[in-house]
Amino acid sequence: MTPELMDQGAQRIAALQEAQMRQALQTASGGREAGFGRRIDAEALDLTHGRILYLEDVSVSFDGFKAINRLSLDIAPGELRCIIGPNGAGKTTMMDIITGKTRPDAGSVFFGSTIDLLRHTEAEIAQLGIGRKFQKPTVFEQLTVFENLELALKTHKGVAQSLRYRRSAAHDQRLCEVLETIALQDSLARQAGKLSHGQKQWLEIGMLLVQDPQLLLLDEPVAGMTDQETERTAELFLRLKGQHSLIVVEHDMAFIKAIAETVTVLCDGAVLAQGPLSKVQADPRVIEVYLGR
Ligand SMILES: Nc1ncnc2c1ncn2[C@@H]1O[C@H](COP(=O)(O)OP(=O)(O)OP(=O)(O)O)[C@@H](O)[C@H]1O
Ligand SMILES: [Mg+2]
Repeated sequence: MTPELMDQGAQRIAALQEAQMRQALQTASGGREAGFGRRIDAEALDLTHGRILYLEDVSVSFDGFKAINRLSLDIAPGELRCIIGPNGAGKTTMMDIITGKTRPDAGSVFFGSTIDLLRHTEAEIAQLGIGRKFQKPTVFEQLTVFENLELALKTHKGVAQSLRYRRSAAHDQRLCEVLETIALQDSLARQAGKLSHGQKQWLEIGMLLVQDPQLLLLDEPVAGMTDQETERTAELFLRLKGQHSLIVVEHDMAFIKAIAETVTVLCDGAVLAQGPLSKVQADPRVIEVYLGR
């Protein structure tokens, strides 16, 4: 990427009106601008027990229906965990609970050994270093690739700081690294709306990566992708593993096979089986829930 192109991107960002920026930031934060006012010290993450995420006995009911039923799960730092399970198993609800979108009726959810996620808002949880990718790409279509990434970097800093945002060499360096990681370094000046579905998904992952999350939650990231895009996404996730912890929910078994270490099978809101893919696929209870319904 040339410095000229970087400058072009920065100039276009600077040209955004403040009101427009506020609106974009509010959209990105789900309209909870107030939650961004408070900075949280992500350095405080305590990994001494070898777990970055810990759920114990978590339950949630919707109108008497137990969507999550005494779910316990833990994730190691740098791990890439795949979660599979039939429709309605509770996979998305589990992510909603981790990210503070849904509050469980019972149980504990800890980030590291000491951060009780149930005491934090959705915005605070994002600032603590948990990034979430929803199934549908939610990039700003009218902005360029570069502008989307820079906006994500600013948004993470909170509204007040984002309006005073000044580019720095460190930020430029981070944006360059992320552009290469998501293989969009040749498309930085393209409008996001003109990207392929797969590229939009990568851009959205890039928008999470510029915020340096320690844990990334990805819900059906390859849905709607071509086979080639799916393969490239598998390579991307394998590169991210180790630097970040990843929880990947997917129905695409070829994709799971390409990235899997430990696979957790969710069913009826609880863990049905867990282990290497070959082991869980041979488990009669897993075969039953996939084929017996
Ligand atoms: N906000 C809600 N209100 C009522 N019921 C809900 C709510 N959210 C989820 N559910 C129900 O909880 C169950 C689990 O849903 P969830 O979306 O977590 O499943 P999933 O494993 O992600 O399924 P899929 O593979 O289809 O995405 C479903 O029966 C769903 O209808
Ligand atoms: Mg789901």
